[in-house]
Amino acid sequence: MLNEDKGPRIVVEPPGPKAVKLIEADKKYIMQSFNRWYPLVVERGSGSYVYDVDGNKYLDFNAGIAVMSLGHANKLTIKAITEQAQKLMHYSFTDFLYEPATKLAEKLCEIAPQGPECKVFFANSGAEANEAMIKAARWTTKRQYVLAFTGSFHGRTLGSLSLTASKPVQRRYFGPLLPGVEHVPFPYCYRCPFKLEPKSCDFYCIDYIQEQTLRYTPAEETALFMAEAIQGEGGYIPAPEGYFQKLKKLLDKHGILLGVDEVQSGMGRTGKWFAIEHFNVKPDYVSMAKALGGGLPLGALIGREELMELDPGSHASTFGGNPVACAAGLSVFEEIESSNLLQDVTKKGEYVMKRLREIQDKHPIIGDVRGKGLMIGAELVKNPNTKEPAKEELQKIIVGAWKSGLVVIGAGESTIRICPPLTITQDELDMGLEILEKQIRNI
Ligand SMILES: Cc1ncc(COP(=O)(O)O)c(C=O)c1O
Repeated sequence: MLNEDKGPRIVVEPPGPKAVKLIEADKKYIMQSFNRWYPLVVERGSGSYVYDVDGNKYLDFNAGIAVMSLGHANKLTIKAITEQAQKLMHYSFTDFLYEPATKLAEKLCEIAPQGPECKVFFANSGAEANEAMIKAARWTTKRQYVLAFTGSFHGRTLGSLSLTASKPVQRRYFGPLLPGVEHVPFPYCYRCPFKLEPKSCDFYCIDYIQEQTLRYTPAEETALFMAEAIQGEGGYIPAPEGYFQKLKKLLDKHGILLGVDEVQSGMGRTGKWFAIEHFNVKPDYVSMAKALGGGLPLGALIGREELMELDPGSHASTFGGNPVACAAGLSVFEEIESSNLLQDVTKKGEYVMKRLREIQDKHPIIGDVRGKGLMIGAELVKNPNTKEPAKEELQKIIVGAWKSGLVVIGAGESTIRICPPLTITQDELDMGLEILEKQIRNI
């Protein structure tokens, strides 16, 4: 039994009686288009823990899907939200100005991987930030085509969904989607789409884009390549080293803009402000959301200045850049910078990867361990030789972990997704990994 004060505490097997009532209401009143891993009914959160309505306390390896990077109920964020809400809650940045938005935009330009000569568009979500990216790229280049990766996730509004190619259910019956979108294979080296070996392939997957895709999707009419440097929903898969450098050369040759979707990987999750910084290329656009608003809805598109000169009235959003969300965003910056969190994330990430590899040595169900910072995936396979995805086993492990006091979910077909608050402690990481290992052992 885990210590009562330290760590998780399960007092009633979840879902408990209060949760069951709320689950009934959810079924009755909410459109069930979500893919819930298990029916956790959350009541409150504090630091690296969340509590359900029946009093169970869970360690959080999920952070509200990579949003609560400072943990739950961060004091600085609460203070920023409260003070800003007392001053001004909304005034539509589409038509009027206020300081929290310009201040946050200035901060984003300071850290932008493109360099500081950037401009920002504020939205409310990741999908919306990506819509803005597509529109800004098309408007600027006056070109129509957009490229994206197989396995990518860019959101669920119709434009961003057209680029998404993660799971069939996300697209089924929603067509026709945006025309002018082409998908090219993501360099998922553990399951190379060309069945090649990373050591000898010389990135044939990039030659393929030149030789095949750009033959019938005219390069001179292609505006943008939208990419995740580390696929999130697709299974927490980092692109291999050197890949983006070669890709960028190809795109530059044709004047195609590189836009990186940092909705899940940005704001320090990987130990750098942006995942693309691990790959030594300068993108043209960056989209963000999730952790940016410290728990409030906020998305942003950062683009090189000259790629953000759209006509007045051509693109806007009533709530985008809401002052309270921007104040919360500023508090996230303040906390990360004042506590030197990025360095810490790198160390913690290396530790988790090492521990997972030790678990992998004992349990061949873990086929691949990968990630950067605290964006880590452990892909489960039925057999390390056939690499058949262990989907049912993943579900059992995830549900077993929940019942033992750990909130963790999957990604891709059969990957355990580890994205705790960046502020999680070493002890807490150990406790969570212990719960996971036990579940893996039980399979
Ligand atoms: C990489 C990526 N892009 C875009 C999105 C969509 O963001 P939102 O749900 O805020 O629209 C997500 C959400 O998970 C994501 O992970």
